[in-house]
Amino acid sequence: MSQNYDVKDLGLADQGRESIEWADREMPVLRLIRERFEREKPLQGVRLGACLHVTTETAGLMRTLKAGGAEVFLAASNPLSTQDYTAAALVKHYGISTFAICGEDNDSYYSHIKAICDVKPLMTMDDGADVVSYLHKERPDILEGIIGGTEETTTGVIRLRAMEADGVLKYPIVAVNDANTKHLFDNRYGTGQSTFDAIMRATNILIAGKTVVVAGYGWCGKGVASRAKGLGASVIVTEISPLAALEAVMDGFRVMPMMEAAPLGDIFITVTGDTTVISGEVFSAMKDGAIVCNAGHFNVEIDISALEKMTKSRKVIRTFIEQFEMNSGKSVFLLGEGRLVNLAAAEGHPASVMDMSFANQALCAEYMVRNAKTLEKKVYSVPADIDAEISRLKLLAMGVSIDTLTEKQEKYLASWEEGT
Ligand code: ADE
Repeated sequence: MSQNYDVKDLGLADQGRESIEWADREMPVLRLIRERFEREKPLQGVRLGACLHVTTETAGLMRTLKAGGAEVFLAASNPLSTQDYTAAALVKHYGISTFAICGEDNDSYYSHIKAICDVKPLMTMDDGADVVSYLHKERPDILEGIIGGTEETTTGVIRLRAMEADGVLKYPIVAVNDANTKHLFDNRYGTGQSTFDAIMRATNILIAGKTVVVAGYGWCGKGVASRAKGLGASVIVTEISPLAALEAVMDGFRVMPMMEAAPLGDIFITVTGDTTVISGEVFSAMKDGAIVCNAGHFNVEIDISALEKMTKSRKVIRTFIEQFEMNSGKSVFLLGEGRLVNLAAAEGHPASVMDMSFANQALCAEYMVRNAKTLEKKVYSVPADIDAEISRLKLLAMGVSIDTLTEKQEKYLASWEEGT
């Protein structure tokens, strides 16, 4: 790509800037980091290739990295999640080379990833590990010059740990998802709220009284199930982990295998991170009119090709809703092409949780630069002091104060002599 951006329409830039500034109001921790970065320039001279959802919240992170002195190149981490106005504003008002167009096809998606790799980044920032995977498969020549990277999401961290286990990972990565200030809030409250935001925007159906089947009870599944319950749904959880299933039972949900849940559900939401969770067999057992969507990172959880094979006709009946009329005569309705529904049919997690996720990203980028010489080609957890500092700053910004240990309490906690 010869130009240093590829967006839908620069004419959308002013609208994008208003929305970016609106989101920024809810991101006080990232703002504080940006102010410090502006003064200290910890990322001076770092060429950074980021592959993230191109949203107003991501714009806040890009501005922060740039304020820290980095030269930033951004590509979309999902073909449907780009906000075209945000991409336009990033290019026109914030000087960030952005390569992202909502609805881009697979070729365009990868040409954008290629564009940010062609600049030979010193550091990468991924959401799903597509850049790391692309660089290792297609551009091993560039790997040598990369000092490190960060990864935003559960699925990406799983892929990277698999690379580390296979001995093929060629530079250190910090797993931002592992920070408590990331997954306890972003995965749980972010995915919980934005998934229902998307389902309600796309369908305008009443959730109360519906049976919602949530596949997966990790942090995202916990959030989705809890919000479904709060909206008045009867919730069924499906799991493969005995521990997670037990948690779901004790949290008050019905737990059963997917094939038993199939004929009961009105709405199915996959959040497992694994493939073929809703298979052709599950589709055949569903009731007429079932709504199916995915809130996991990749569009692999719902077996759409199996559904296509058992379908006699299909049509888009409303933006983000496609009806599949199966050979049996029953219909299922698929939302957002089976891609991350909260980003395809809504705007992703609200800014207030992305504040903490992206504060982690910014501070981990700084950590990477400071420790480049000593880090090995491994997946690292976010340093505990970064996690602690972010929770402290977030509470401060929210105006919440807490107690501190008295001297007596500290002494008690450090002792072992006192008992009953
Ligand atoms: N992932 C989930 N929600 C997001 C958002 N609002 N911006 C960027 N990445 C996200």
